[in-house]
Amino acid sequence: MTRESAAAPGLREPASRNPIVAGNWKMNGDHAFVERYVASLREADLPSAVELVLCPPTCYLSALARADLAIGIGGQDVHWLDAGPCTGSVAARMIRDCGATWSIVGHSERRIGLSESDEMVADKVDAALRAGLRVIVCVGETLAEREAGSAETVVLRQLDTVLARVPEAALAQIAVAYEPVWAIGTGRTATPEVAQAMHALVRARLIEMNAESAMSVCILYGGSVTPENARLLAREQDIDGALVGGASLDPGDFLRIAGAFAERATGALQSRAAGA
Ligand code: PGA
Repeated sequence: MTRESAAAPGLREPASRNPIVAGNWKMNGDHAFVERYVASLREADLPSAVELVLCPPTCYLSALARADLAIGIGGQDVHWLDAGPCTGSVAARMIRDCGATWSIVGHSERRIGLSESDEMVADKVDAALRAGLRVIVCVGETLAEREAGSAETVVLRQLDTVLARVPEAALAQIAVAYEPVWAIGTGRTATPEVAQAMHALVRARLIEMNAESAMSVCILYGGSVTPENARLLAREQDIDGALVGGASLDPGDFLRIAGAFAERATGALQSRAAGA
């Protein structure tokens, strides 16, 4: 089953999903940074229409979780095994034990920098779901792949390998983050139209798997998201939030990005009410 059009304006189906804005701190921060960040969030009005998730380095998960903010806490990666001789790795259940309810899996910095294959990513998603974590599954093509005209093929291959391991009943436990590699940390974000086209493709694939659950899966955009471009991205039908790297290191910017998606959520609720 495919959708009629990739980029029809307006919300054509009820947005039964709250946007998710996740901050990926990558390998940044220390305990003092965590304390300052927590203090900023305590002083702020956190948008209730958006699910906020912060993914610090593993060693700061517990400190962030202990702050007991009304946000999700996520790891940045998990191993595919529950335990064993894997020096330096962290199991999904350990992330969970530190207070995480989410984990990022399949980030391109690991796929490319650490040679993680599609199969390894799928095994990790499986392990995270088994441990009771929700998962942000990252997919995205390199610049060379986009220029060769294979962006869609690459993203669908990455997605299909994961979906083959996700039971239909667990589909609602995942979010997909489309992160074109050429946009990550480069200041060069995908245009809303380019991002929406890929998000629509991802949504169509999810619908093929389970039409009902697919409408509740958030598809996040990642790659040089800022408070400014978030407002444009948030207008697109299938851009349900953001996975934010650099800008998430500033709590003010992170919350401004969340604010852009909160406005989207409010608008969606209004249009749903108007159509009721
Ligand atoms: P960026 O990173 O926002 O710094 O481009 C996004 C990501 O890698 O998740």
